[in-house]
Amino acid sequence: MYIGIIVSERKYHKMWLFNRMCMSKVRLDGKTAVITGANSGIGKETARDFYRRGARVILACRNIEVAEKAVEDIKNNPPSGIDESEYRNGAGELAIYSLDLSSLKSVRNCAKNLLQNEATIHILINNAGVVLLPFQKTEDGFEMVFQINYLSHFLLTLLLLPKMQLSAPGCRIVNVSSVLHFLGDIEFDDINLERSYKVWPAYNQSKLATILFTKEFAHRLQEANIHGINIYSLHPGFIPTKIFRHGDNSLFPGAYYYFNLFTKIFCKNIVQGAQTTIYCSIDEKAANETGLYYSNCNVSTPQWRARDDQYAKKLWNLSCRLLHLDPEEDLNTLLKTVSRQLVE
Ligand SMILES: NC(=O)c1ccc[n+]([C@@H]2O[C@H](COP(=O)([O-])OP(=O)(O)OC[C@H]3O[C@@H](n4cnc5c(N)ncnc54)[C@H](OP(=O)(O)O)[C@@H]3O)[C@@H](O)[C@H]2O)c1
Repeated sequence: MYIGIIVSERKYHKMWLFNRMCMSKVRLDGKTAVITGANSGIGKETARDFYRRGARVILACRNIEVAEKAVEDIKNNPPSGIDESEYRNGAGELAIYSLDLSSLKSVRNCAKNLLQNEATIHILINNAGVVLLPFQKTEDGFEMVFQINYLSHFLLTLLLLPKMQLSAPGCRIVNVSSVLHFLGDIEFDDINLERSYKVWPAYNQSKLATILFTKEFAHRLQEANIHGINIYSLHPGFIPTKIFRHGDNSLFPGAYYYFNLFTKIFCKNIVQGAQTTIYCSIDEKAANETGLYYSNCNVSTPQWRARDDQYAKKLWNLSCRLLHLDPEEDLNTLLKTVSRQLVE
C-alpha cells in the first residue's frame, strides 16, 4: 500500500493510499483564523494552508521568537504544487499574538487583545498540545497537560465566542484531539491525577476531555439558539513533530528519536497530518455537521465515554467550577459572566 519517495522533511511525498487529503478549493479571503500552537507541526501547516487561501491567520503562540521564524517560513515556502507567484498573489496576512496556555491570565490577556484588535474571528483552531511531561502544576494549580491541552482551550473558546457570534454565519471551532483518547478516562475525583500520575493517562484524559467538550458545546450552542458556529474534534494521525520531545526525560533516552523515526516511516508527514484539521475548518460537506469527531477527513466514532451525554455534561460542569463559573447558567449568561471576568 506504500507508494512514495522521500524528498525533504515537509515536502516528502509519502502517500499511504488511505491518507485522505482535504480537496476543498474554498478560499478564505476576508476570513480570520486563530490557531493556537501555530509555530510548529500541524498548527504551522494549517496556518500555511489558510494563508494560501487568503485568510488573515493569527498564530497564537507562547514562543514569539519561534513564531516569527514560522511566519517567515510560511511566507517564503508555498505548499508543494503551488508556484511562488500564485502563492504570493493569493496569500492573506499573518499575525502573532502571545498565548501561554499554562496560564489562565495569559489566556485572558490573549483573548482581550484579540477581541480588541480583530474585527472578526471566523475560525478558531484549538491545536496546541503537549505530551509526555513529568508531573507538574501550572500557576493556576492544575495538572499541566490537562490545562494546556484542554482547560485553557475551553476558556479561550468561551472568551472568543461573542466575537465569533458577530462574525457568523460560517464560523467553525476545531479541537485537535487524538485517537489515544480511546485509552483515556476522566478522573472526576482526581482531575489533576495527583494520586497516580502517569504520562500517557494524563494525555489520554486531556484528549478525551477535548472530544467531550466538543460534543457538549455543540449541544449548548443549539440550546442557546446560537447558529452559524459549528464545532469539531479530530485525530490528525501520527506525525513526526516535536510533540514527542519530552519523551527522552519521561520515558527513556532516545524516545523522541525512535517515535519520530517510527512515525516518519509508517505514518503521515506534516502536510498530511494537517488535512483533517483543514477539512473540519473549511470543507463544504462538514459545514452541515457539528459536535462530531473526525479522523482522516471523515466522521469517525470515538470511544463510548465520548458518546455519553451524561459524561459530557459532568465534564462541562466540572470545567465551569474549576474556572469559578456557575455550571447551571445557560450558555448566553455564562458567556456574559466569562466576558465580565476580562474587565474585573
Ligand atoms: N504529532 C502527532 O502524532 C499527534 C497525534 C495526535 C494528536 N496530536 C495533536 O496535534 C496537536 C499539534 O501537535 P503537533 O504534533 O503539531 O506538535 P508540536 O509541533 O509540538 O506543536 C505543538 C504546539 O503547541 C504549542 N504549545 C505547547 N505548550 C504550549 C503552551 N503552554 N502555550 C501555548 N502553546 C503551547 C507548542 O509551542 P512551543 O513551541 O511553545 O512548545 C507548539 O506550537 C496537539 O494537540 C497534539 O496533541 C499530534
